[in-house]
Amino acid sequence: MAKQFDIVFFGGMGDLALHKLLPAMYRCEVDSEYADDCRIILTSRKDLTGAEFEAKVKTSLVNELAADENVDINWPQFFARLECVSLNISEGGDEWVDFSSSFKGREDILRIFYLSIPPGIYESCSENLDKYKLISKTARIILEKPIGVDLESAKIINATVGKYFDEDNIFRIDHYLGKETVQNLLALRFTNILLDDVWDNRSIDHVQISITETVGLEGRAGYYNDVGALRDMAQNHLLQLLCLVAMEPPHEMNADNLRAEKLKILKALKPITEDNVTQTIVRGQYSEGVLNNQVANAYIDDLGSDFGGSDIETFVALKAEIGNWRWAGVPFYLRTGKRLKKRAAEILIEFKALPHAVFPAKFGKVQPNQLRIKLQPEEGIELTLMGKKMHDREMHLKPVTLSFDFADSFDGHVRPAYQRLILDVVDGNSSLFLHREEVEQAWSWITPILQCWEADSDSKPASYSSGSWGPLAAELMIEKDGRSWVEPGSK
Ligand code: BG6
Repeated sequence: MAKQFDIVFFGGMGDLALHKLLPAMYRCEVDSEYADDCRIILTSRKDLTGAEFEAKVKTSLVNELAADENVDINWPQFFARLECVSLNISEGGDEWVDFSSSFKGREDILRIFYLSIPPGIYESCSENLDKYKLISKTARIILEKPIGVDLESAKIINATVGKYFDEDNIFRIDHYLGKETVQNLLALRFTNILLDDVWDNRSIDHVQISITETVGLEGRAGYYNDVGALRDMAQNHLLQLLCLVAMEPPHEMNADNLRAEKLKILKALKPITEDNVTQTIVRGQYSEGVLNNQVANAYIDDLGSDFGGSDIETFVALKAEIGNWRWAGVPFYLRTGKRLKKRAAEILIEFKALPHAVFPAKFGKVQPNQLRIKLQPEEGIELTLMGKKMHDREMHLKPVTLSFDFADSFDGHVRPAYQRLILDVVDGNSSLFLHREEVEQAWSWITPILQCWEADSDSKPASYSSGSWGPLAAELMIEKDGRSWVEPGSK
């Protein structure tokens, strides 16, 4: 049903808005989600002319949307909703007065503020929202990740935003939770008794969660070089996926229960400290290499000479352990990196070896069962079982794969994660958003790692060639446990 709201994107001409948020809002137009007078307001530091604004937005839509989507069809209605406002977010003044006056008479309409800006200005932005009387009783706020750069800054942001908005009206976004396949993981886990019976340390040997990217900096040097892979991907996306794999079934699926179960897992993560940091986490930075048959630059060349070098990590691999009854002794290996060989996001569950070999070794090697949950670009599930090679009179054992592709099984287009999540905010459904405590707990686990790195100024990220699977040290980290990384998307 069409919905009535005003949404403001602070940082509306930024990278995230142009590449992800506006295409998601455009899709809402195509899906007839808007009531007639819905407004989409984009703030910009630059004073753009109407023509510049139109060209920028339209070009980004054409680039981001699928080739068969004709933007022209819905463009006039969509463009009519858009407004570009020139605003210095952290300083108040006349611009804010004008901005605020554009909401006169719309106090009863749902109002959403989306902060797609550096976390350092979340506080001043919320203060100005309050000062210029923009926080109506219908107002909700969306906070883009990363929320802060460590535990302390996250607490300050949460406390400041919490002064002006109730927790129920704060939506901390992690777009991975909006991906269809990630939600399917919940369905898979909590509707299949077959899986439930093997979902613990009696049957599972270890878990691997990989988010590998082929892209490099993509013009985001200013943001990324202050942040790095641990804060950009591990603190949020990777830990959230870990929680979904490891959490207990909530007694009923709703936002409070789901978030409470995830929080328990975050609390049970064993700390990484100076005693074990070098054995449990590897960081890397990409150097020049060959990716998709083309020479790809080193990170420092992508950064450009203004930065004068950098020790920030573009890759991280770590071993997380959950100290609870279900997961004791089951390592969760997480890794993510830029400029890697292939773009993929995948969860691999490797089951234990057989307790006893029934067939003699000459019949073939028995490989442990594996369940692969493919999140992107392919979306599906694969289960590897052992079977007998067909048509041989002799018993020859062989792995066989049962494969299930979501696209083949369900019709219709997959909604982009941001579209789904923004519509959830409109509906006031916070299931797929992070509670304040989750964010702070994730930072409590990550911050000591950052502190160890800072304290050890001699240790630097290991170099890895663009187009590889990351630094050798990441292979060695898992190999010393007698295991190896499984290439995502390889089957
Ligand atoms: C974002 C990170 O949260 O996720 C980016 O800031 C990363 O650095 C992106 O590229 C990956 O998202 P997706 O949906 O393309 O896997």
